[in-house]
Amino acid sequence: MHNEIDLDKIEISAEPPAEEPARQYYFMAKCREWVREFERKNGRRPTAFTQTFGCQMNARDSEKLTGILMSAGYQMSDSEEADFVIYNTCTVRENANNRVYGRLGTLHGYKKKNPAMKIALCGCMMQEPSVVQKLKESYRFVDLIFGTHNIYKFAELLAKTLTADSMTVDIWEETDQIVEELPVERNYTFKSGVNIMYGCNNFCSYCIVPYVRGRERSREKDEILAEIRQLAADGVVEIMLLGQNVNSYGKNLDHPITFAQLLCEAAQIPGIERIRFMTSHPKDLSDELIAVMRDSKKICRHLHLPLQSGSSRILKMMNRRYDKEHYLALVEKLRAAMSDLALTTDIIVGFPGETEEDFEETMDVVRQAQFDSAFTFLYSKRTGTPAAAMENQVPEDVAKERFDRLLKEVQQIAAKKAGALTGQTLPVLAEEINRQDPQLLTGRLSNNSVVHFPGNAEMIGKIWNVKLVSCKGFYYLGDLP
Ligand code: SAH
Ligand code: SF4
Ligand code: F3S
Repeated sequence: MHNEIDLDKIEISAEPPAEEPARQYYFMAKCREWVREFERKNGRRPTAFTQTFGCQMNARDSEKLTGILMSAGYQMSDSEEADFVIYNTCTVRENANNRVYGRLGTLHGYKKKNPAMKIALCGCMMQEPSVVQKLKESYRFVDLIFGTHNIYKFAELLAKTLTADSMTVDIWEETDQIVEELPVERNYTFKSGVNIMYGCNNFCSYCIVPYVRGRERSREKDEILAEIRQLAADGVVEIMLLGQNVNSYGKNLDHPITFAQLLCEAAQIPGIERIRFMTSHPKDLSDELIAVMRDSKKICRHLHLPLQSGSSRILKMMNRRYDKEHYLALVEKLRAAMSDLALTTDIIVGFPGETEEDFEETMDVVRQAQFDSAFTFLYSKRTGTPAAAMENQVPEDVAKERFDRLLKEVQQIAAKKAGALTGQTLPVLAEEINRQDPQLLTGRLSNNSVVHFPGNAEMIGKIWNVKLVSCKGFYYLGDLP
């Protein structure tokens, strides 16, 4: 959805409007004026670079940042040696933070060569006071810091930064506002994420997301559906509905509706061929949702259902509010309803107090559930979460040894399951030219498996029936029948 407001018609010598999003369009126009001045002086447009560090929601936010930069007139660049660089950070695990600090060192080097360069940091990591403190003390070359709640104010903050010569810091602790209808530059023309809710109320004891993303807020159904209709009109065929726990969508709206009802309505929008969603919490996954998935041709045959641990004792300490039996019963129901469903998961190893017996329970669920793939994580202590203060933190070498065993098991199962569809002819959404072989296209099946098949750039963004000829590890090689 690109902005259809003519920025050149905005009177930038007047006072900025108070209401949103008009206020942000005013500041985009201001930035555009600055960009034109830059162009006059330098004989070229200023360049900008956006980097996403986190999850799909973080990536969707980055598309909004890029949309605003492009509206202001920036030339987007693949190189970090740009005039404006923004990192959209993640803090879910310690290594996500470390990556940011590491790369800031490199950026500092670029800035020494180009002193007019501006460096901005936003996203989840910036919602942590200790991070902002550290940046203020030891990373003075950063020009702009803002968080997750005021990302819609990026144009205004950018305008300020372009003319300021000291660090701008603007972090909000909370917000109940949802501001949409700003420019978005989608990474793909034919598929798009759609935020259906923001924040999280679950407070899993290891997780920092509720602290950095705030309380759960669902968007109004009609606004979501209007956005999807607009995307369909723009040529989008696949959407991914995004939220930290989509299964609790709509509970707090003035006219409560369920996630399953939202899915049903989204599936009726002409032009939308595929619907995915992320993430489902096992405690809220309803029979209604399973039935809607089963009965819809548009809802993809893939469910990401994070397990976290197979031990009921650990799940309780994690505050996940389901147990091993509940999880396995869900898997059984899902498999009974949809034999072709790909099931994927997230697992944390080394949560405080995890014993060898607890870990064996996780291995047991992995063997029983037969995940098509699993993301495995070493527990990372997040300051401020209840788990960080728990006793019995698991020694690193013990956790690492378990992690390796789990990974091996997960990979063996995934390898065994891959290839199950060989010989069938199935719809594949062509997504891009194959990076190794330009004669091939790379696409995905409904169950999210990757397929490479012969084709050309004109076929991208459409769904093709492809015969799955062979399976090479984790992808299929196919042919058009
Ligand atoms: N809302 C989603 C998960 C978002 S975070 C859900 O509830 O499933 C993505 C994944 O990161 C989580 O599923 C979890 O496996 C992992 N994760 C979150 N906090 C972590 C921590 N402190 N240490 C290690 N992994 C963590
Ligand atoms: Fe974190 Fe739990 Fe919320 Fe997921 S549901 S974002 S793991 S607190
Ligand atoms: Fe990371 Fe924030 Fe997503 S902490 S996982 S980017 S919600």
